[in-house]
Amino acid sequence: MEVVIAPAGELARLAADAVQGLLTARPGVVLGLATGSSPLAVYDELARRHAEEGLSFARARAFMLDEYVGLAADHPQRYRNVIDKEFAARVDLAPGAVRGPDGLAEDLPAACAAYEADIAQAGGVDLQLLGIGTDGHIAFNEPGSSLASRTRIKTLTRQTREDNARFFGGSVEQVPRHCLTQGLATIMSARHLVLLASGRAKAEAVHQLVEGPISAMWPATIMQTHPHATVLVDDAAASRLQ
Ligand code: F6R
Repeated sequence: MEVVIAPAGELARLAADAVQGLLTARPGVVLGLATGSSPLAVYDELARRHAEEGLSFARARAFMLDEYVGLAADHPQRYRNVIDKEFAARVDLAPGAVRGPDGLAEDLPAACAAYEADIAQAGGVDLQLLGIGTDGHIAFNEPGSSLASRTRIKTLTRQTREDNARFFGGSVEQVPRHCLTQGLATIMSARHLVLLASGRAKAEAVHQLVEGPISAMWPATIMQTHPHATVLVDDAAASRLQ
Protein backbone atom coordinates (compact mmCIF):
# COMPACT_ATOMS: atom_id res chain seq x y z
CA MET A 1 0.00 0.00 0.00
CA GLU A 2 1.38 3.39 -0.98
CA VAL A 3 0.67 6.20 1.49
CA VAL A 4 1.07 9.79 0.30
CA ILE A 5 0.86 12.65 2.80
CA ALA A 6 0.26 16.00 1.10
CA PRO A 7 -1.74 19.21 1.50
CA ALA A 8 -5.48 18.66 0.91
CA GLY A 9 -5.50 20.53 -2.42
CA GLU A 10 -2.64 18.41 -3.74
CA LEU A 11 -4.45 15.16 -2.91
CA ALA A 12 -7.22 15.87 -5.42
CA ARG A 13 -4.68 16.62 -8.13
CA LEU A 14 -2.86 13.35 -7.46
CA ALA A 15 -6.11 11.38 -7.68
CA ALA A 16 -7.08 13.24 -10.86
CA ASP A 17 -3.64 12.46 -12.31
CA ALA A 18 -4.28 8.74 -11.75
CA VAL A 19 -7.65 8.96 -13.51
CA GLN A 20 -6.21 11.00 -16.36
CA GLY A 21 -3.29 8.60 -16.82
CA LEU A 22 -5.67 5.71 -17.24
CA LEU A 23 -8.01 7.60 -19.55
CA THR A 24 -5.14 8.63 -21.75
CA ALA A 25 -3.84 5.07 -22.01
CA ARG A 26 -7.27 3.52 -22.47
CA PRO A 27 -10.27 5.80 -23.17
CA GLY A 28 -12.74 2.97 -22.46
CA VAL A 29 -11.71 2.82 -18.80
CA VAL A 30 -14.14 1.71 -16.08
CA LEU A 31 -14.12 4.10 -13.13
CA GLY A 32 -15.45 3.49 -9.64
CA LEU A 33 -17.07 6.56 -8.09
CA ALA A 34 -17.50 7.44 -4.42
CA THR A 35 -19.81 10.05 -2.93
CA GLY A 36 -19.46 12.01 0.30
CA SER A 37 -17.19 15.00 0.66
CA SER A 38 -13.78 13.33 0.15
CA PRO A 39 -13.88 12.97 -3.66
CA LEU A 40 -15.55 16.33 -4.41
CA ALA A 41 -12.30 18.15 -5.08
CA VAL A 42 -11.27 15.31 -7.42
CA TYR A 43 -14.49 15.75 -9.39
CA ASP A 44 -13.87 19.51 -9.48
CA GLU A 45 -10.37 18.94 -10.82
CA LEU A 46 -11.53 16.40 -13.43
CA ALA A 47 -14.31 18.75 -14.55
CA ARG A 48 -11.75 21.55 -14.84
CA ARG A 49 -9.43 19.37 -16.93
CA HIS A 50 -12.38 18.44 -19.13
CA ALA A 51 -13.41 22.09 -19.66
CA GLU A 52 -9.95 23.62 -19.98
CA GLU A 53 -7.73 20.83 -21.28
CA GLY A 54 -10.14 18.64 -23.25
CA LEU A 55 -9.87 15.58 -21.01
CA SER A 56 -12.59 13.33 -22.39
CA PHE A 57 -14.70 10.71 -20.63
CA ALA A 58 -16.76 9.99 -23.77
CA ARG A 59 -15.80 6.32 -23.91
CA ALA A 60 -15.50 5.73 -20.17
CA ARG A 61 -18.01 3.98 -17.96
CA ALA A 62 -18.48 4.30 -14.22
CA PHE A 63 -19.96 2.37 -11.33
CA MET A 64 -21.00 3.95 -8.06
CA LEU A 65 -20.07 2.42 -4.72
CA ASP A 66 -23.33 2.69 -2.88
CA GLU A 67 -26.81 4.18 -2.60
CA TYR A 68 -29.31 4.92 0.15
CA VAL A 69 -32.39 2.73 0.23
CA GLY A 70 -35.71 4.46 -0.23
CA LEU A 71 -34.74 8.05 -1.02
CA ALA A 72 -37.13 9.50 -3.61
CA ALA A 73 -35.86 9.61 -7.19
CA ASP A 74 -35.57 13.40 -7.05
CA HIS A 75 -34.08 13.63 -3.55
CA PRO A 76 -30.95 15.81 -3.73
CA GLN A 77 -29.02 13.44 -1.43
CA ARG A 78 -29.80 10.33 -3.44
CA TYR A 79 -26.26 9.34 -4.42
CA ARG A 80 -27.27 8.93 -8.04
CA ASN A 81 -28.30 12.60 -8.11
CA VAL A 82 -25.20 13.69 -6.23
CA ILE A 83 -22.90 11.97 -8.74
CA ASP A 84 -24.85 13.41 -11.68
CA LYS A 85 -24.57 16.93 -10.25
CA GLU A 86 -21.00 16.78 -8.92
CA PHE A 87 -19.40 14.84 -11.76
CA ALA A 88 -21.35 13.28 -14.62
CA ALA A 89 -23.14 16.46 -15.72
CA ARG A 90 -19.85 18.37 -15.77
CA VAL A 91 -17.98 16.06 -18.13
CA ASP A 92 -18.80 14.25 -21.38
CA LEU A 93 -19.72 10.82 -20.05
CA ALA A 94 -22.19 9.20 -22.43
CA PRO A 95 -25.83 8.86 -21.36
CA GLY A 96 -26.21 5.65 -19.37
CA ALA A 97 -22.46 5.38 -18.77
CA VAL A 98 -22.83 5.76 -15.01
CA ARG A 99 -24.47 2.92 -13.13
CA GLY A 100 -25.42 2.73 -9.47
CA PRO A 101 -27.17 0.29 -7.18
CA ASP A 102 -30.97 0.80 -7.35
CA GLY A 103 -32.07 1.84 -3.88
CA LEU A 104 -35.68 2.07 -5.08
CA ALA A 105 -35.90 -1.46 -6.50
CA GLU A 106 -38.84 -3.57 -5.35
CA ASP A 107 -36.54 -6.57 -5.03
CA LEU A 108 -33.38 -5.21 -3.41
CA PRO A 109 -31.40 -8.50 -3.25
CA ALA A 110 -32.10 -9.02 -6.96
CA ALA A 111 -30.95 -5.46 -7.68
CA CYS A 112 -27.71 -6.16 -5.78
CA ALA A 113 -27.08 -9.36 -7.76
CA ALA A 114 -27.81 -7.53 -11.03
CA TYR A 115 -25.37 -4.81 -10.07
CA GLU A 116 -22.59 -7.32 -9.44
CA ALA A 117 -23.33 -8.88 -12.83
CA ASP A 118 -23.17 -5.44 -14.51
CA ILE A 119 -19.74 -4.74 -13.03
CA ALA A 120 -18.46 -8.16 -14.11
CA GLN A 121 -19.88 -7.71 -17.62
CA ALA A 122 -18.04 -4.38 -17.91
CA GLY A 123 -14.80 -6.24 -17.17
CA GLY A 124 -14.47 -4.95 -13.62
CA VAL A 125 -13.42 -1.55 -12.30
CA ASP A 126 -10.03 -0.17 -13.34
CA LEU A 127 -9.73 2.61 -10.77
CA GLN A 128 -11.89 2.87 -7.68
CA LEU A 129 -12.08 6.18 -5.79
CA LEU A 130 -12.78 5.74 -2.08
CA GLY A 131 -13.37 7.78 1.04
CA ILE A 132 -13.24 6.32 4.55
CA GLY A 133 -15.75 6.67 7.37
CA THR A 134 -14.67 7.68 10.85
CA ASP A 135 -15.59 4.12 11.86
CA GLY A 136 -13.32 2.66 9.17
CA HIS A 137 -15.98 1.84 6.59
CA ILE A 138 -15.30 1.92 2.87
CA ALA A 139 -18.35 2.29 0.68
CA PHE A 140 -20.96 1.48 3.35
CA ASN A 141 -19.26 -1.65 4.65
CA GLU A 142 -19.70 -0.89 8.30
CA PRO A 143 -17.66 -2.53 11.10
CA GLY A 144 -18.41 -6.25 11.19
CA SER A 145 -18.82 -6.52 7.41
CA SER A 146 -17.60 -9.76 5.92
CA LEU A 147 -14.26 -9.33 4.20
CA ALA A 148 -15.70 -11.57 1.44
CA SER A 149 -18.88 -9.52 1.01
CA ARG A 150 -20.48 -8.61 -2.32
CA THR A 151 -23.09 -5.96 -3.13
CA ARG A 152 -25.89 -6.22 -0.58
CA ILE A 153 -28.21 -4.36 1.79
CA LYS A 154 -26.56 -2.95 4.90
CA THR A 155 -27.82 -1.13 7.97
CA LEU A 156 -25.97 2.14 8.56
CA THR A 157 -24.43 2.62 12.00
CA ARG A 158 -25.57 5.46 14.22
CA GLN A 159 -22.05 6.92 13.80
CA THR A 160 -22.35 7.03 10.01
CA ARG A 161 -25.85 8.49 10.17
CA GLU A 162 -24.58 11.19 12.55
CA ASP A 163 -21.59 11.85 10.28
CA ASN A 164 -23.88 12.21 7.27
CA ALA A 165 -26.59 14.26 8.99
CA ARG A 166 -24.76 17.36 7.69
CA PHE A 167 -26.05 16.49 4.22
CA PHE A 168 -29.64 16.23 5.55
CA GLY A 169 -30.06 19.61 7.21
CA GLY A 170 -28.29 18.39 10.35
CA SER A 171 -31.05 15.91 11.19
CA VAL A 172 -29.88 12.35 11.85
CA GLU A 173 -33.51 11.20 11.63
CA GLN A 174 -33.60 12.26 7.96
CA VAL A 175 -30.63 10.03 7.10
CA PRO A 176 -31.85 6.68 5.76
CA ARG A 177 -31.21 3.64 7.94
CA HIS A 178 -30.34 1.29 5.08
CA CYS A 179 -28.22 1.33 1.96
CA LEU A 180 -27.08 -0.86 -0.89
CA THR A 181 -23.31 -1.10 -1.02
CA GLN A 182 -20.65 -2.85 -2.99
CA GLY A 183 -19.08 -5.45 -0.72
CA LEU A 184 -15.48 -5.52 0.40
CA ALA A 185 -14.67 -8.30 -2.07
CA THR A 186 -16.34 -6.29 -4.84
CA ILE A 187 -14.15 -3.30 -4.05
CA MET A 188 -11.06 -5.47 -3.76
CA SER A 189 -11.68 -6.72 -7.32
CA ALA A 190 -10.95 -3.25 -8.69
CA ARG A 191 -7.48 -3.03 -10.22
CA HIS A 192 -6.39 0.17 -8.48
CA LEU A 193 -7.83 1.59 -5.24
CA VAL A 194 -7.35 5.30 -4.55
CA LEU A 195 -8.53 6.38 -1.11
CA LEU A 196 -8.67 10.01 0.01
CA ALA A 197 -8.94 11.19 3.59
CA SER A 198 -8.51 14.59 5.14
CA GLY A 199 -9.09 16.08 8.56
CA ARG A 200 -8.42 14.99 12.12
CA ALA A 201 -11.74 13.12 12.37
CA LYS A 202 -10.29 10.51 9.99
CA ALA A 203 -6.98 10.07 11.86
CA GLU A 204 -7.92 6.95 13.84
CA ALA A 205 -9.52 5.29 10.79
CA VAL A 206 -6.40 6.06 8.71
CA HIS A 207 -4.15 4.72 11.49
CA GLN A 208 -6.15 1.47 11.54
CA LEU A 209 -6.25 1.30 7.73
CA VAL A 210 -2.48 1.60 7.39
CA GLU A 211 -1.10 0.15 10.63
CA GLY A 212 -3.85 -1.86 12.27
CA PRO A 213 -4.40 -5.61 12.08
CA ILE A 214 -6.69 -6.72 9.26
CA SER A 215 -10.11 -6.94 10.85
CA ALA A 216 -13.76 -6.83 9.90
CA MET A 217 -14.12 -4.31 12.75
CA TRP A 218 -12.06 -1.85 10.68
CA PRO A 219 -13.23 -2.85 7.20
CA ALA A 220 -10.81 -0.62 5.29
CA THR A 221 -7.90 -2.71 6.64
CA ILE A 222 -8.64 -5.27 3.92
CA MET A 223 -6.96 -2.80 1.56
CA GLN A 224 -3.59 -3.83 3.05
CA THR A 225 -3.87 -7.00 0.98
CA HIS A 226 -4.61 -5.23 -2.31
CA PRO A 227 -1.76 -5.32 -4.84
CA HIS A 228 -2.28 -1.69 -5.93
CA ALA A 229 -3.72 0.59 -3.29
CA THR A 230 -2.93 4.28 -2.92
CA VAL A 231 -3.87 6.19 0.24
CA LEU A 232 -3.86 9.98 -0.12
CA VAL A 233 -4.03 11.82 3.20
CA ASP A 234 -3.43 15.30 4.54
CA ASP A 235 -1.38 16.02 7.68
CA ALA A 236 -4.39 15.96 9.99
CA ALA A 237 -5.65 12.59 8.72
CA ALA A 238 -2.08 11.25 8.95
CA SER A 239 -1.55 12.57 12.48
CA ARG A 240 -1.84 9.18 14.18
CA LEU A 241 0.43 7.32 11.80
CA GLN A 242 3.62 6.05 13.46
C1 F6R B 1 -19.75 7.19 -0.12
C2 F6R B 1 -18.99 6.20 0.59
C3 F6R B 1 -18.52 6.41 2.00
C4 F6R B 1 -17.76 7.70 2.19
C5 F6R B 1 -17.34 7.85 3.65
C6 F6R B 1 -16.59 9.13 3.89
O1 F6R B 1 -20.03 6.72 -1.41
O2 F6R B 1 -18.74 5.20 0.03
O3 F6R B 1 -17.68 5.34 2.35
O4 F6R B 1 -16.64 7.70 1.35
O5 F6R B 1 -18.47 7.81 4.46
O6 F6R B 1 -17.44 10.20 3.67
P1 F6R B 1 -16.89 11.68 3.57
O7 F6R B 1 -16.03 11.72 2.39
O8 F6R B 1 -18.12 12.52 3.41
O9 F6R B 1 -16.16 11.94 4.84
